[in-house]
Amino acid sequence: MSSVPSGAIGPRDNNNNNDLLPRHSLVQPPNVEIDYQKFESEYLVHAISIDRTKVSKATKILRGFTLEERGIQDVVLDETDPEKRKRLVLLKRESFAAKAVADFLPEDVRKRLEDEVGISLVSGDGKNDEENEGVVKEHRITLDYKYHTAEYVLKQLLPDGMETPSAFEQVGHVAHVNLREEFLPYKYTIAKVIADKNSRIRTVVNKVGAIDSMFRVPNWELLYGDADLKATVKQHGYSFEVDFGKVYWNSRLETEHKRLVDVEFKRGEVIVDAMAGVGPFVVPAVKTKGCRVYASDLNPDCFEMMQKNVKLNKIEDSVKLYNMDARAFIKSLLEPAAGKSSDDAPEEMWARELSAYEQELKKFREKIKANEKGNEEDEKETEDNNTKKKSEKKRKRLEETSVPKPNWSTMTAREEAKNTSVPPSGATFDHIVMNLPATAVEFLDCLKHSFDRKTWENRKLPTVHAYAFRPPGHTDRDVISRAEGHLGCPIKNAKVFEVRDVAPNKAMVCVSFQITEEQAFGSSPS
Ligand SMILES: C[S@@+](CC[C@H](N)C(=O)[O-])C[C@H]1O[C@@H](n2cnc3c(N)ncnc32)[C@H](O)[C@@H]1O
Repeated sequence: MSSVPSGAIGPRDNNNNNDLLPRHSLVQPPNVEIDYQKFESEYLVHAISIDRTKVSKATKILRGFTLEERGIQDVVLDETDPEKRKRLVLLKRESFAAKAVADFLPEDVRKRLEDEVGISLVSGDGKNDEENEGVVKEHRITLDYKYHTAEYVLKQLLPDGMETPSAFEQVGHVAHVNLREEFLPYKYTIAKVIADKNSRIRTVVNKVGAIDSMFRVPNWELLYGDADLKATVKQHGYSFEVDFGKVYWNSRLETEHKRLVDVEFKRGEVIVDAMAGVGPFVVPAVKTKGCRVYASDLNPDCFEMMQKNVKLNKIEDSVKLYNMDARAFIKSLLEPAAGKSSDDAPEEMWARELSAYEQELKKFREKIKANEKGNEEDEKETEDNNTKKKSEKKRKRLEETSVPKPNWSTMTAREEAKNTSVPPSGATFDHIVMNLPATAVEFLDCLKHSFDRKTWENRKLPTVHAYAFRPPGHTDRDVISRAEGHLGCPIKNAKVFEVRDVAPNKAMVCVSFQITEEQAFGSSPS
């Protein structure tokens, strides 16, 4: 694992070439004292004492007139009742401003209370109050720090007239904020309030400056809690382990990850993810579309976390992971399978293994069926639903152990596949994903005329999905022109999908296009 520098955010150490890594400041933040008393206040409301058996009916009739304070119950125990049978139904704050409850509750509501629940309102005078029903009492409501929203608390703590910074992103126990300059003098207070008001948050970090490290990890400054930036995140219903201090993760890309998998990938396709991060395209592609994936990321920590996430989601059989530069990775996959017949190309091998497996499975099932036929009569009499389910499970287990499924990720017939640090040459695939919007299009040059005609004979050429930024004043056509410049060929069939705004008038987009014969091979077949 690479080490992440901590301490004050400072200039990079050029001798260490550490522009790959972020510069965090993860020193323990100062303790912030909040004057909690400042947030305490009280007020009185009217409350009607009602036997607990009638509360449900009465509150229905009183709907719209009972206390509506976030987090405060409108029915509480009547402490004056020695038998603890009575409850106090609290009325709205405005009820206390009225001279009598009768002035606050309309006549028809009072009548319904009498007719339907048998309660007539009486002003409490202290005498026999605990025996009577319908006694109207005073009840004290106490508000404190816990009651108030983060926005309210910050309004009291920040200078008059200052806006309150309420937006933060939460991943696991970590909240990250992106505080504007004017909030920086109050950053520790803001972080403390965010943590106080959100019980799951244990750590608050602020994103400092623009992301300038090659691995796209923001520079974090710790504002609250401990410097533990490891979290487990759910996306598309799948779990991902992420260490924010070391790898890129952006929850706002969830919709885009889902779109690409749901809309662009087809069942069983082969995907190349060249800047895969910790696997947010990889996992759903395998899980929801049964795809097989070659995935790589240059950041060794991403590679390590991607391995963990593949295990966590039990998709080891369908993925091959690498820790390589995207250009070298793609070039290696596109290398012709030199000196070997095209039959040894990974996709051909896989097709053969799969077909052999399916034949074996068929034979095995026929054998089992023949064996079962003899026992059928006995079974008919004895098998209830439960035993049927059990024997079905047993059959499945037997099937799995007798005819093991081929494992795509450990197909070892080829030398290259044995060496797991180098992708197999002669691979064929359906999509290439490059999600590094700052520079992904610059990698397109590695595709030009890099395809081996023999390997790709009878195979559909892949579709590229390269992410890019579209700066203010630029059009989709400008983004495509940039891609064309790097690919070194015209791109006539590109679709540009707007992913999200990253700044005013600056969008992240996805340029998708299918590689043409001209781009792949340089000339039409002779
Ligand atoms: C914007 S992140 C995207 C990660 C992931 N695909 C996602 O959607 O969340 C870009 C990733 O590219 C990786 N990266 C940067 N330069 C690279 C390179 N030359 N080759 C391969 N990966 C690279 C970074 O480490 C980072 O994980």
